[in-house]
Amino acid sequence: MQVRVLFWAHFETFAKQKNCHSERSEESQIRSFILVIDRFANAKLLRTSYTRKKSINKFANLISFAIQKIYLIPYTMTIKELILKTRCYRRFYEDVTITSQTLTELVDLARLTSSAKNMQPLRYVISANREMNTKIFKTLAWAGYLPDWDGPAEGERPAGYIIVLRDNTITENNYCDHGLATQSIMLGATEKGFGGCVIAAINKQELSRLLNLPQNLEILLVLALGKPKETVILDVLEENGDHKYWRDKDNNQRVPKRKLENIILQSFD
Ligand SMILES: Cc1cc2nc3c(=O)[nH]c(=O)nc-3n(C[C@H](O)[C@H](O)[C@H](O)COP(=O)(O)O)c2cc1C
Repeated sequence: MQVRVLFWAHFETFAKQKNCHSERSEESQIRSFILVIDRFANAKLLRTSYTRKKSINKFANLISFAIQKIYLIPYTMTIKELILKTRCYRRFYEDVTITSQTLTELVDLARLTSSAKNMQPLRYVISANREMNTKIFKTLAWAGYLPDWDGPAEGERPAGYIIVLRDNTITENNYCDHGLATQSIMLGATEKGFGGCVIAAINKQELSRLLNLPQNLEILLVLALGKPKETVILDVLEENGDHKYWRDKDNNQRVPKRKLENIILQSFD
């Protein structure tokens, strides 16, 4: 309680200094406060070393987490946290089910995503059904860079699938709609406490037959979803390093990511 009062006192002073609108709800004021902490932690103006910035960042995250806990605000991830957590997971707690309602809500995020020429040619098939999941699983190829691994074992397989299709009667060119839609779904899955893997290595003929799809519907991607049972660690990929992901001795998935300075080729201030 004392801590709560202390936080509130600090916050009130801060709010007054910043001329915060008095009619705003307590929650939205706290959210602004948290945002300022985040901004401070990420500020480019902060002229200090990378390691120190990282520590400040961690400290700021801890404070904002504490504030959210104290005021019982549901913990909200920043977009960067959400993206960092949205990895490709290939092993799941299969007994943790994912409902068709949840899958529908995820497709709704895709529905609201931008679409080239606003043609919206994407269609979806969802499955939260064990029997159907088993059949879909057989049409997929997992982790090409891990040749000694045949994909998730029984009990570690996805609890649900979203199959992304294009309706060729609308267009045969969906530009990058499926990429954007997929990311919306994967971010939404993370927000809901799930995770998954985008899969392009699909036996499309077999899957199309299984789903009894008409000719005009073309399979683009399969999103395998569930409660992740593995840890994915992002490593630094040096300019001439190996981009292939690998598994370490603790069975963590290690994924090298290129450095920011290696991908921004020109910067005009
Ligand atoms: C368009 C696309 C297709 C992919 N296809 C497959 C696939 O067929 N099988 C698979 O196991 N992983 C597949 N992946 C997952 C990638 O291997 C994974 O995203 C990559 O290793 C980076 O890991 P990260 O998502 O954790 O950053 C695909 C990812 C994308 C974006």
